[in-house]
Amino acid sequence: MKLAQLIAQTGEHEATIQVLCHLLEAKRTNVFLVKDISEPIAAKTIQIIEEYKKGIPLAYLLGSTYFYNRKFVVTPDVLVPRHDTEVLVELAEKKIIADCLARIDECKSKYRILDLCCGSGIIGISLAYLCDWLHERQRNHFYEIVAADYSLAALEVATKNAALHHADINFVHSDLFNDIRGKFHLIVCNPPYVRTTEIGVEDEWTLKEPRIALDGGIDGLYFYRRILANAKQHLVPNGMIIFEIGYDQAKAVETIALENGYRSVETFKDLANRDRVVTIRV
Ligand SMILES: C[S@@+](CC[C@H](N)C(=O)[O-])C[C@H]1O[C@@H](n2cnc3c(N)ncnc32)[C@H](O)[C@@H]1O
Repeated sequence: MKLAQLIAQTGEHEATIQVLCHLLEAKRTNVFLVKDISEPIAAKTIQIIEEYKKGIPLAYLLGSTYFYNRKFVVTPDVLVPRHDTEVLVELAEKKIIADCLARIDECKSKYRILDLCCGSGIIGISLAYLCDWLHERQRNHFYEIVAADYSLAALEVATKNAALHHADINFVHSDLFNDIRGKFHLIVCNPPYVRTTEIGVEDEWTLKEPRIALDGGIDGLYFYRRILANAKQHLVPNGMIIFEIGYDQAKAVETIALENGYRSVETFKDLANRDRVVTIRV
């Protein structure tokens, strides 16, 4: 069967391409070069797209997705990684590089990063790539990444992803900071931030994601309040916390940060030009 015929049959262009990339273990561009899609592959694609049309996220059906150009295991126990979160990773990378340059002559103390609410582990694992690279080039960039989540099932997925990416990460089962010890140079966090009544309203398929990964309480700000009340004691001087936020939460999160005595707050936009990340300094 030709690709065009298969797409006509499924009625889903993008999803069909993604399924074929997965089933054929091929890059996107190579999928377009396939002359003839075999009957079993076409049948499997149609079956997966049928499920997808019922509102099940493609990442759950395929068991994986891409984040920051890398493949991660994804199950219904974790939030489906969003491309918006890549903005947070980019900002964290800039902070790590700047700190690394500033620490060039420093002793061999570890640069500590905490990925709070780690879910599938995508943020911490992406940062581990940079830290490994820095360590190779600059031998005194010793680092430690701690990743924490309250969901044991999510931690299991994150552990699998860390193994897949050979990332050296210490996973901790913790209700926010409850079981986190010591101070960090950087805390990265994509907490649940959807208002309880808005879960599934904009995107119906989010109803298939774990509620614990989405529910940010009545006003969506429950986790920012709890985290900012305690983060200071887990940050070194000049340490930073980087949060993903909902597109309409920048002002509210800034207010919570300033009320809790943090020094400076900056907001950054995602590719759709909506507020998506805030950086907060102690
Ligand atoms: C929005 S998801 C983010 C997952 C991942 N970091 C990402 O960006 O895809 C929020 C995560 O917070 C976790 N979580 C919810 N309540 C928590 C708590 N009290 N303590 C720690 N983690 C919590 C959820 O299990 C979920 O994995």
